Parts: sequence; structure tokens; C-alpha cells
Amino acid sequence: MCPVCGGLVEVGYQIDEPHPDRWPALWRGRQGSGSVADRSGVWRFRELLPFLADDQEPISLGEGSTPLVSAPGAASWAGLEHLQVKHQGVNPTGSFKDLGMTACISHAVAQGAEMVACASTGNTSASMAAYAARAGIRALLFIPGGAISSAKLAQATDFGALVVEAGSNFDQSLKILRLAATALGCYVVNSINPYRLEGQKTLVAELLEQRGWLVPDCIVVPGGNLGNVSSIAKGLAELLGFGLIGKLPRLIVVQADGADPFFRLWSSGSLVLEPVLDPETRATAIRIGNPANWPKALRALRWTDGTCESVSDAEIGAAKDALSRDGIGCEPASATTVAGLRKLRAAGQIEPEADVVAILTGHQLKDVDYIIEERTATERRLRLGKEPDRETTPEVIAAWLATLS
Ligand code: F0G
Repeated sequence: MCPVCGGLVEVGYQIDEPHPDRWPALWRGRQGSGSVADRSGVWRFRELLPFLADDQEPISLGEGSTPLVSAPGAASWAGLEHLQVKHQGVNPTGSFKDLGMTACISHAVAQGAEMVACASTGNTSASMAAYAARAGIRALLFIPGGAISSAKLAQATDFGALVVEAGSNFDQSLKILRLAATALGCYVVNSINPYRLEGQKTLVAELLEQRGWLVPDCIVVPGGNLGNVSSIAKGLAELLGFGLIGKLPRLIVVQADGADPFFRLWSSGSLVLEPVLDPETRATAIRIGNPANWPKALRALRWTDGTCESVSDAEIGAAKDALSRDGIGCEPASATTVAGLRKLRAAGQIEPEADVVAILTGHQLKDVDYIIEERTATERRLRLGKEPDRETTPEVIAAWLATLS
């Protein structure tokens, strides 16, 4: 926290001899290295985050290097000619949080921290627990009681995290954590920690590298605590400053209708965020009413000529279906991106031929409860008895298949 303005701080560097002309080849070359940290999609770009001492090994689980694939079905559903998705769910703990976590747990270790803590809607906690286990330090987790996906909580438990149920939503959990952290001597790893954003900003370097440094027209992200969009903007500012890119993509944030304080701020033109006191959405990862990073996010959208949209749970479900038809699974929060694109396209705010990348933030299996609850009505399943019968079994299956469209 800045002692002067009360805002969140940001990491800045004095890089004495930058060599942006040599970096792309250096970064690409490290992919073939035998070292996990060299291959990591974060530490491969270490010239952009030079905060560790030369002799400190980062705490890395081989994060990043996630796939960038086309999603033709989702593109046409959204009214676009083409769409690429960058799947951050394909990370060690299944979400984009691992990029930031490797950076801030490494920093925590450098500071001599013995216990790290976070408030979380689930993914940050799973990621923190894994990286803390790797570093051999304790992980203390503050979660809203009964409000996070059981798969995410299971991950954190599996990695040995200590769990405190605090409040009934993320905002309350974070408030309680911030109150207790100093007294408990915890190093806080939420995205109010600027080192988290340092790790997460490498997403944009990796994305642009995969595109041969061709800048897309738009990059779309879900909006919760708004750390992700802030980190992408910081990454873009640095790449632009070093001359690695010559223009900016529009950054687009999509929130869920019941948890959309930033969308309200953006569309009203107000300068101060009015928190949503009782946020509600089936996309529990982004069920946040008072996002800490909103000033950075607002700066990011203004600077990139970006925009913000909000979508209903039904629209999120339909977008998730569209991605599933492309063979791409993700958790509900990630599907807000495609739902938002469809809405912005229908409103004429994006051209059909726009070159768009959606960031899918979490893995399909992160919210299995959602799939079971939302999909059982459309599930297509035939139940057979225990014993197969050579004559009737194929007939029964064939008859069932014939009834399906
Ligand atoms: N998508 C997923 C899957 C998330 O888990 C989160 C945030 C977001 C999007 C939003 O990102 O906060 O940077 O705007 N999850 C946090 C957590 C809050 O505790 O796991 P953001």
C-alpha cells in the first residue's frame, strides 16, 4: 500500500543495459533448455522481471507455455470470423494464477517468509498451496464459507494448506485477511501484491511470441479482482517501451452481471467504484464485489482504448457450450470472455473480422459441480445392466443411438 496515496504499489525497474533486439531469440532458445526455470513461461522472460538475485533459484513448477489455439465454433457463435483462445487452464494447478504465484512465492522466499496467506475464490488458493509446498513454507488460506468450488478446495487441501473460513464472499475474506496478516506475520499473495502481477504480465509476452509478435486487435479477459487485466497492461507497456511491439491491442474486461462493479463504473463514466455488496454469479471464481485493482484496470482500459462488458449466467453457460463444441473445456468464469465478445459484436463494438484472443483462465475440471448441476438435463447417457448379452446389447445401444439427433 502506498503511504502517500493509499493505492496499490507497482514494481518498476532500472534495467541498465536492455537488449530487446536479442531477447526474442534468447527467450525462444530457452524453451529447449534442460532447466525447468529456463523452460517456464514466466522465468524464460526473466529480463522483464529482474527482481531475484542471480544466485536465487525461482520456485517454479514449469508454469506457462500454455496452448494458443483457434476456436472456430465459438468464433462463429460470437459472430466473429476467427478467434484464438490462450488456455491458461493448462498450468500446473489448472489456472493462470500459477504465473503470478511462481513470482511472488519466489519473492516471499527471498524475503525469508515462513507463512504465506491469501483470500480466494479458489484458484489463488490452489496455486498458493502448491507453490508454498514446493518452497517448504506454510500456506494459510481465507475462503468464503461454502462459496468456492469443491475441486479447488480439494486441491488446496491436498497440498496441505491451512484453511480459515472467513465471511460469505471473497471481499469479506480479503478484508479479514488484511486485518490479520501483519499480526500473524504472513506474506500476502493476493493480487494486491505487486510481484503477483510481475509473473502474470509474462502471459502477454508468451502470447505475442506465439503469434510471431503480431499484436491482435483485442485481448479479452474475465474480470474479478482485476489483477489479470492490470498485469497484461503492465506487460504491454514494457514491451512497447522496449520497442518489441509497435501498437497496442484493445483490452476488454468481461464481468458477470451479479458481480459487475467495474462494468457499472465503466459504463457510468464515474471515477469511483461503488462496490456490489452481495455479489452473485454461478461463475464463482469472479464472484467479487469490491475489486482491489480497479484503479489500475481503469487506467489499462483507457490507455488501450478498451472496454468492459457484463454478461448473465445464462450467457456464460451458452458460451461455455460453444467452446465445448470446439473441444475446448474451461471453467465458467473463463467463458465470460466469449459471452462478452458475442454481446460486443452484436452491439457493433467489434468488427466481425477483428483479430481477437480470449484468455481462458481456468481448467474445465476446476468446477465439476457446475457441470454436474447445469448439464444433467442435457446429458445423454444409457444405463445397461451388469451382464452383456451378445444378441440384445448391441441392439439396445443401436436403438438408443437412433433416438439421438
Ligand atoms: N478467472 C478465474 C478462473 C479466476 O479464478 C479469477 C480470479 C479470474 C478469472 C479473475 O481474475 O481477479 O485477476 O480479475 N480468481 C481469484 C481467486 C480471485 O481467488 O482465485 P482477476
